[in-house]
Amino acid sequence: MPEVEEQMQTVYSLNELEQVAADIIDAARDEHIWLIDGDMGAGKTTLVKAMAKKLGVINTVSSPTFSIVNEYHDREGKTIYHFDFYRLKSEAEAYDIGVNEYLESGNLCWIEWSEKIPSLLPDRCFKIQLEVNDPQTRTIHYVREEENRL
Ligand SMILES: Nc1ncnc2c1ncn2[C@@H]1O[C@H](COP(=O)(O)OP(=O)(O)O)[C@@H](O)[C@H]1O
Ligand SMILES: [Mg+2]
Repeated sequence: MPEVEEQMQTVYSLNELEQVAADIIDAARDEHIWLIDGDMGAGKTTLVKAMAKKLGVINTVSSPTFSIVNEYHDREGKTIYHFDFYRLKSEAEAYDIGVNEYLESGNLCWIEWSEKIPSLLPDRCFKIQLEVNDPQTRTIHYVREEENRL
């Protein structure tokens, strides 16, 4: 099926977070590896928490700052891995904790600070970009692939 790509760009406040999380989940569809990029304070972990809630995750969702990876389970029992590579010193360190196995597990992987592991990322990823506008709002960018109905 031919697909067309639509560049999505949305400004949102915390009031719209739930809707944005739902839209992302819909847009990412069957992609397994989601990169959540943006500076410190851009709202990456906040978005992850909202997406986890949407999927029915009941564990506490917080940034895996010390463990590098957190494991969650959605309402169907499916595993989700949440990485935060902010404190990663080298790609070798990521390799040593078995990041490849996580990424190749077929489970959903949400990755903060993916730029720390450029050579470990697969070619095909769902990319989410966050930017701070002002204290009350953020801009989110992602690409939505639509089935070409023409
Ligand atoms: N869309 C938004 N609008 C306003 N504030 C937001 C938004 N998203 C996140 N924040 C706030 O920004 C701060 C940093 O968010 P956080 O998710 O921890 O950032 P990151 O994980 O990117 O470092 C938090 O106080 C959070 O409430
Ligand atoms: Mg974070």
